[in-house]
Amino acid sequence: MALPQRARASLLAFLLLCTGSVSAYNRAACQAPTRNPLEGCAKNTLLVGPNANFTSVQEAVLSIGNTTTAWTILILPGNYTEQVNVTRQAPLTLLGQTSHPNNASKNIVNIIWHNATGTATTGTYDNAYTSTLTIAPDFNASTTGSGTDGNPVPAGTPFGNENFRTYNLNFINDYLPYSAGPSLALSVSYANAGFYYTQFLSYQDTVYVGKLGNAFMYDCIIGGQTDFFYGFGTLWVTDSNIKLRGCGGGITAWKGSNTTFANKYGVYIHDSYIAKANSTLNITGECALGRPWNSQMRSIFSNNYLDDSIEPSGFIEWSATTPRITFNTTMAEYNDYGPGFNLTARLAANITIEMTAQEYAPYSTPAKVFQYPFSGAFGNVAWIDEHPHG
Ligand SMILES: *[C@@H]1O[C@H](CO)[C@@H](O)[C@H](O)[C@H]1NC(C)=O
Ligand SMILES: *[C@@H]1O[C@H](CO)[C@@H](O)[C@H](O)[C@H]1NC(C)=O
Ligand SMILES: *[C@@H]1O[C@H](CO)[C@@H](O)[C@H](O)[C@H]1NC(C)=O
Ligand SMILES: *[C@@H]1O[C@H](CO)[C@@H](O)[C@H](O)[C@H]1NC(C)=O
Ligand SMILES: *[C@@H]1O[C@H](CO)[C@@H](O)[C@H](O)[C@H]1NC(C)=O
Ligand SMILES: *[C@@H]1O[C@H](CO)[C@@H](O)[C@H](O)[C@H]1NC(C)=O
Ligand SMILES: *[C@@H]1O[C@H](CO)[C@@H](O)[C@H](O)[C@H]1NC(C)=O
Ligand SMILES: *[C@@H]1O[C@H](CO)[C@@H](O)[C@H](O)[C@H]1NC(C)=O
Ligand SMILES: *[C@@H]1O[C@H](CO)[C@@H](O)[C@H](O)[C@H]1NC(C)=O
Ligand SMILES: *[C@@H]1O[C@H](CO)[C@@H](O)[C@H](O)[C@H]1NC(C)=O
Ligand SMILES: *[C@@H]1O[C@H](CO)[C@@H](O)[C@H](O)[C@H]1NC(C)=O
Ligand SMILES: *[C@@H]1O[C@H](CO)[C@@H](O)[C@H](O)[C@H]1NC(C)=O
Repeated sequence: MALPQRARASLLAFLLLCTGSVSAYNRAACQAPTRNPLEGCAKNTLLVGPNANFTSVQEAVLSIGNTTTAWTILILPGNYTEQVNVTRQAPLTLLGQTSHPNNASKNIVNIIWHNATGTATTGTYDNAYTSTLTIAPDFNASTTGSGTDGNPVPAGTPFGNENFRTYNLNFINDYLPYSAGPSLALSVSYANAGFYYTQFLSYQDTVYVGKLGNAFMYDCIIGGQTDFFYGFGTLWVTDSNIKLRGCGGGITAWKGSNTTFANKYGVYIHDSYIAKANSTLNITGECALGRPWNSQMRSIFSNNYLDDSIEPSGFIEWSATTPRITFNTTMAEYNDYGPGFNLTARLAANITIEMTAQEYAPYSTPAKVFQYPFSGAFGNVAWIDEHPHG
């Protein structure tokens, strides 16, 4: 049955309202610097800026609370020294104001924190305290913990944000300009989060995707030195610029966990440019693609350019005394290239699996590795922006 145009439009509006979907709007128009900064933005958009209603991102997030409608926060240029914690379940999008909505290297909104695990004088030392941005339903869900499986998340913990997004923001943990303990710029647990044209910078443990965390990064810049993609959850990075600011541990360090059932946990790095951060660094052959944080690590690099900073063996053991490489470890490549891809050395070391097309097939798309689309409180949530170009 064909509905009249207006009836169809209101039915669509009703469905969007019911599912808490992110409403359609022109992202570039909202982000463009204009006399009225909110010109071109979606209806439920708050403004953060040095002279705006909200002067910190966290104040704006808290003012929205745990409502069931989708919200957007537009952030004006500046340096915001704060931690941002997002616990709400309904969609939330953070936008940085910019004239270059498709180029992360031109972002002019910085959210900065400086802390590392081990700086506490009393009490707990979990990495969760250090992160610049955290997306998780509560503190316990966001902790890293220790041991083979990390902290068990208490039974009954609800899922957190089902559809969180950022565009054109830089999240920085600048504790010290070298590895000096876990210094998270991002932490995602029990939540779905997509990052577009976003930067994450620190030196150690920069990006954490924890228990039941699903994270997607497109055309981002991620800079780090030691184990700077780590976690238990599922992370897909594509079309991004991975800046090696030194070498330590591996680029990736993952744990298999019994908390991920429906999806294929692991870290998947695709179609990206992986190279030293600048020409003054002398790290030829020193950066490993990853090392097994536990013996069920899964890390797959596919179709990336690798500069000569990459270790000839590709992946490495956790350590000489605790190698942790077993038949359960999946540390693999498929179609990587560039001076950092030395097939002879890879095969001789026998640590990195060079996958065949058939072996790679089960991991070849976001839909295959994530539980996607996601079925949650807001229905079938397609939380990945498939058309991010603004
Ligand atoms: C500023 O805050 C007032 C009161 O909370 C609100 O009515 C108004 O919409 C806000 N304006 C912006 C630009 O966020
Ligand atoms: C933010 O900090 C950076 C580095 O300290 C500085 O170059 C930039 O001008 C600052 N931006 C603003 C808007 O103050
Ligand atoms: C948000 O609301 C949902 C639905 O009522 C609830 O399950 C969840 O625990 C709430 N989250 C927070 C952080 O309050
Ligand atoms: C992004 O900006 C940088 C710095 O100006 C420039 O080198 C680069 O070509 C730009 N990228 C795109 C895709 O326009
Ligand atoms: C820094 O992290 C430590 C955990 O190592 C925590 O105890 C402390 O409260 C944090 N400090 C700040 C200012 O966030
Ligand atoms: C964010 O969460 C961390 C860890 O619980 C906490 O130390 C920090 O105070 C929180 N910050 C804000 C602004 O809520
Ligand atoms: C090169 O990168 C390193 C690591 O981030 C940094 O310490 C150094 O200052 C950078 N050098 C230049 C010239 O940018
Ligand atoms: C996962 O393992 C931990 C101990 O490592 C256990 O406490 C927990 O019950 C297990 N969870 C499930 C769902 O099996
Ligand atoms: C880099 O270090 C290696 C080994 O220490 C040395 O042989 C080489 O000359 C250095 N290259 C540069 C450009 O400094
Ligand atoms: C390998 O995985 C199986 C099931 O997935 C598990 O029972 C076994 O303990 C794992 N072995 C190691 C060494 O992690
Ligand atoms: C590749 O690795 C092999 C074995 O380690 C080594 O002999 C060779 O020089 C390397 N090739 C290049 C181009 O680095
Ligand atoms: C490579 O390692 C696997 C175990 O991880 C072993 O079964 C196999 O024999 C090794 N191959 C070579 C050529 O050493």
